[in-house]
Amino acid sequence: MTRTPVNVTVTGAAGQIGYALLFRIASGHLLGPDVPVNLRLLEIPQGLKAAEGTAMELDDCAFPLLRNIEITDDANVGFAGANVALLVGARPRTKGMERGDLLSANGGIFKPQGKAINDNAADDIKVLVVGNPANTNALIAQAAAPDVPAERFTAMTRLDHNRAISQLAAKTGAAVSDIKKLTIWGNHSATQYPDIFHAEIAGKNAAELVNDEAWLGDTFIPTVAKRGAAIIEARGASSAASAANAAIDHVHTWVNGTAAGDWTSMGIPSDGSYGVPEGIISSFPVTTENGTYKIVQGLDINEFSRARIDASVKELTEERDAVRELGLI
Ligand code: NAD
Ligand code: LMR
Repeated sequence: MTRTPVNVTVTGAAGQIGYALLFRIASGHLLGPDVPVNLRLLEIPQGLKAAEGTAMELDDCAFPLLRNIEITDDANVGFAGANVALLVGARPRTKGMERGDLLSANGGIFKPQGKAINDNAADDIKVLVVGNPANTNALIAQAAAPDVPAERFTAMTRLDHNRAISQLAAKTGAAVSDIKKLTIWGNHSATQYPDIFHAEIAGKNAAELVNDEAWLGDTFIPTVAKRGAAIIEARGASSAASAANAAIDHVHTWVNGTAAGDWTSMGIPSDGSYGVPEGIISSFPVTTENGTYKIVQGLDINEFSRARIDASVKELTEERDAVRELGLI
């Protein structure tokens, strides 16, 4: 049976994450080995030539699943009929820029892109925001798309999730595949909270196995939360291949489901669960099935976790208030 191609739009396609992402989408890692894709590359005018070069390379791979590539700097064209949108292109923080300036500059990108998604995307559109500040950029885009169900707008904390699994595996000597039910709560920022109290390592509780609160508070949490900055310091550029890999994981899990006995972390509009104010886009533990996700309910949150979740959520509510003041939502 010939399947209908899925339209995947990538913004910031000529950037470093775009370069690491597009080849994996085209080779079937985003949606599955039997799902053909059409790629839509959305760039700003200065990025179009480089995007064309990447498209030439994609052609040269002769990927059997890649049906066509369109390159544009017009968001209405870029999101036309999009089933999946990966919003990667963003305005980075530059020297001397205050948080308000950064939010405002990104509002100028994510508000019109949200509207273009609203007006042009397919009814089943799923959006992942990667460009930072990812959670609040997702909120801005979502607010500009009133006809799209709010839950289709998500922000990426899967890189943090994967980083936390890797650190926990290194500490305990476990295989990464033995680690389940880890959670990232809150913002994709240094306030995020990687939670191992419900995580399992080969079926045993991770926090009990580790049994080292000093390591948890002084090493594990800051290492995961500040890993993005550590990569920038080491590479001289922000994470790209691991970020692209996490974007692939996020969408693949959303579309194809979480494994039994496990969950993942996604930045999603809060429904008020776990005391996180409704509407802000915060990371939660979620299970996915048939293209939809559900927050894992009923987890016992201890004092240690509560304080850290609250701190990250406070930062998110402040970002929400700032973009509200700027008239972006
Ligand atoms: P980059 O600077 O290499 O590429 C960004 C690209 O976006 C550029 O080609 C630029 O021309 C394009 N762009 C800018 N404005 C655009 C617009 N309005 N429409 C379309 N394209 C536009 O950056 P990168 O390394 O690829 O990173 C992209 C973003 O991802 C950054 O904001 C970065 O901080 C963020 N990031 C997030 C995570 C995460 O875990 N959520 C991880 C790593 C990086
Ligand atoms: C990361 O977590 O690697 C990035 O979000 C860092 C950044 O500021 O781009």
